[in-house]
Amino acid sequence: MSLKDNIIKDQLPRHIAIIMDGNGRWAKKQGLLRMFGHKKGVETVHEITETCAELGIEYLTLYAFSTENWNRPKEEVDALMSLLVDTIEKETPTLMKNNVRLTTIGDTSRLPEKAQTKFINCINQTACNTGLVLVLALSYSSRWEIVNAVKQIIDKGIKQIDESTFATFLTTSHIPDPDLLIRTSGEYRISNFLLWQLAYTELYFTDTLWPDFNKEELYKALINYQNRERRFGKTSEQISNNTH
Ligand code: IPE
Ligand code: IPE
Ligand code: MG
Repeated sequence: MSLKDNIIKDQLPRHIAIIMDGNGRWAKKQGLLRMFGHKKGVETVHEITETCAELGIEYLTLYAFSTENWNRPKEEVDALMSLLVDTIEKETPTLMKNNVRLTTIGDTSRLPEKAQTKFINCINQTACNTGLVLVLALSYSSRWEIVNAVKQIIDKGIKQIDESTFATFLTTSHIPDPDLLIRTSGEYRISNFLLWQLAYTELYFTDTLWPDFNKEELYKALINYQNRERRFGKTSEQISNNTH
């Protein structure tokens, strides 16, 4: 029996979020420049997006570039931005073939104009696709997002606020909270990603570096997720008896 056969089809997470980490270390391990790791990482993005679409996952959010990543050496930031431009153009036909709709979260106004245009084109082209929603987090950080939400609330003069109205001011307002968060490369931190939205998400960490992550590794994460009990503060008995 293959790993895939062990996945329970009607208990899949609706939304998977991934912190794609370890590209630089992957390259360094083989004596290559960090950019080779990022290029190989794009191949993993392709494989994981296709696999999620095939499995029938509804949302996949990929942390591609954080607010803090702007502080990397200029050469790496520039190279990452041109990789982004190339990738989006190259991958649009695959997104169309797999019925994937692209969207972004983050302060995309900070991206180079060329990248912004490519993204708008791809988002428009894939807007009518009805399968997987691929959410790319670009120039994203959770603290930026939360402060941005608070600013909008102040600007609108809103005095009454609760959790659900607050969430409508976040960039993820039309996206359900992630059920499963995967972080690769053996780092055990959240790095300013979806702090609000991860409140009850199941966390999965693997030592595998992102360029080595593949569909089999994703199946492993899904099987692990399906063996957890999500209690949301309740007792185990309440969950197993389905009482409220
Ligand atoms: C993740 O890989 C990709 C981005 C943050 C853009 P890294 O570039 O962080 O790789 P490591 O962590 O240095 O190995
Ligand atoms: C997190 O990875 C951001 C992305 C994957 C885009 P980093 O490599 O930037 O995170 P830290 O600095 O190790 O926390
Ligand atoms: Mg890293």
